[in-house]
Amino acid sequence: MANAEYRLENAWEPVDGDPCGRFVFTLINLSDAPLSGFKLAYTSLTRIKDSEEPHCENATFLRRNANFHQYEPPAGLTLQPGDSWQFTVAPLWRPARHRTDGAKSAYLTLSDGRHVPVAVDDTLLSGRPAEPAPVLMPAGEAKQPFSLLPWPADAALEAGDKAPVALYPADGASVDDRRAMQVVGSLYRRLFQIGQQPFALATVHDGQAIRFATDDTLVGEAYRLEFGDEITLTSGGPAGCQYGLTALAQLLHGARTQPGTFKFPASGTISDQPRYGWRGCHLDVSRQFYPAADVIRLIDIMAWMRLNIFHWHLTDDEAWRLEIKAYPQLTTTGVLRGPDEPMLPQLGNGAEPVGGFYSQDDVKAIVAHAGALHVEVVPEIDIPGHSTATLAALADLTDGQEAPDSYRSVQGFPNNALNPAIEETYTFLGKVFDEMVELFPSKLLHIGGDEVAANTWMASPLARKLMEDEGLDGTFGLQSHFMKRIQKMLAERGRQVAGWDEVSHGGGVDPEGTLLMAWQKPEVGVELAKLGYDVVMTPGQAYYLDMVQDEAFQEPGASWAGTVPPKHTYTYEAVGEFPEELKSRMRGVQACIWSEHFLNRDYFNHLVFPRLGAIAEAAWTPKDNKDWLRFAAIAPLMPKL
Ligand code: ACM
Repeated sequence: MANAEYRLENAWEPVDGDPCGRFVFTLINLSDAPLSGFKLAYTSLTRIKDSEEPHCENATFLRRNANFHQYEPPAGLTLQPGDSWQFTVAPLWRPARHRTDGAKSAYLTLSDGRHVPVAVDDTLLSGRPAEPAPVLMPAGEAKQPFSLLPWPADAALEAGDKAPVALYPADGASVDDRRAMQVVGSLYRRLFQIGQQPFALATVHDGQAIRFATDDTLVGEAYRLEFGDEITLTSGGPAGCQYGLTALAQLLHGARTQPGTFKFPASGTISDQPRYGWRGCHLDVSRQFYPAADVIRLIDIMAWMRLNIFHWHLTDDEAWRLEIKAYPQLTTTGVLRGPDEPMLPQLGNGAEPVGGFYSQDDVKAIVAHAGALHVEVVPEIDIPGHSTATLAALADLTDGQEAPDSYRSVQGFPNNALNPAIEETYTFLGKVFDEMVELFPSKLLHIGGDEVAANTWMASPLARKLMEDEGLDGTFGLQSHFMKRIQKMLAERGRQVAGWDEVSHGGGVDPEGTLLMAWQKPEVGVELAKLGYDVVMTPGQAYYLDMVQDEAFQEPGASWAGTVPPKHTYTYEAVGEFPEELKSRMRGVQACIWSEHFLNRDYFNHLVFPRLGAIAEAAWTPKDNKDWLRFAAIAPLMPKL
């Protein structure tokens, strides 16, 4: 916002007797004209605690909706060009711990009703030193000179003195083998636009031939590479063949881009297969919209690291991003956030309305792209909580007798859950599922289930009646009743439930065929396994890639689940939490990319990498083959968004 006429500085300062401290805001008029009769709005994840009496010096608090806040200056205040207005905001619901914890966006509403942009940037810290961001990664050490990430289950290799110009199919390679080379070659080209292409489909002078073979005794994702005059690639199936070719492309890429450190093997063998079947990466596209091309690039990066599940978090309070033809309003009203829209700006939105959604054609293209790379897309619509956008688009889904602000989610959204006592809720979801099963071949459909606030629906007469009629116990009895109906609806459509760990609350659902993600803390995974659920480990304390990587104030990121340095993400052993008899319930591990803070690409790259690669290695490589310094040496070669 180079030419903004107004700027808002935001600082956090400690306050005696209140560990949450307060904000000090300064609005500076950089325009040529006096400013008066205005209101100021900003968005901030560190929210004012409006359940108590707000105390703001030199301003009046007007309203809050989740992270949206609005204030007005003292009556009669006029800011001449160059003047500023300073005011304070308290009480806050938590302290600001990092420079990204304050205002993310702001705008003014002028006396004539126009909304104008206000530049806003890093939160400043008053009253104590704002520690600089540290260097997060060590230099690394590749004891074996081969750039493979994830590192294989078994590798015994001798380095050669020079890398072949390109690898090409030996005589007798099938059309499928040649196609597989084309798939991985074009993956490489998309990820490294100036890199030297590892594969050619015709014989290459100074190249090396790949002889393809299959072995029925290998699992489908397994492969073996034998290096000699030729390279023999033996695989258990098409995925294994792709993974073997990806390993070859990685070896060549390392040998060419860092020839002093990495070499191409002259002889030896790699025998490889994944540690876990579920090697996931989740992306929240509700809090911020990612264009389809960015989603495709993330899937490409996943394929390069042999991650195989893309968990696509398509809906949340902030927006519903999936086109549903039966309900077009979901992607008109249900995505638009702006000062005069039904949904107010959040998390970086300002004076201009913003939207963004995926058409069904986009979805089909993304699912096909992922499938061709052996990445399965598991879609999520987050219900019954996290549904502000749905309810903004479809007002009929609310109980008209329920008081408007009778409960709030942990993110501060009022009355944000679909009501299990309204029959139209199921009609709506049935039509959504009908369209989703046509778009997503995955047998799993993720239905969220997280963070339904403790007193949700308790002010809804319809929900109260359902509780009485069915003998249900409070919010979580209702949630379980709802989830069981959803499970049945999915079964009727040939699909099984995936969800967050709270799906198990209040009686849960039938664990048979249900997969839950343990996110709140590692112990939850064990509890779920004891209840008979299959579990994917996504604990925030290790695998949430929005978490800050160091405690320094200038290091950006969220911190509610703690500080998650790359080394912790790398070395964390999720299965270590499980007793022997429950280990088989743990299907794998997954990175989660929650987007509240992700305002731009640099931010994404700083937080997601190299930790996504750390999770890819945790998902693939046996514990005894993990090596932090080797990872640190190879991770810089990985592509970014
Ligand atoms: C979650 O982080 N609410 C699943």
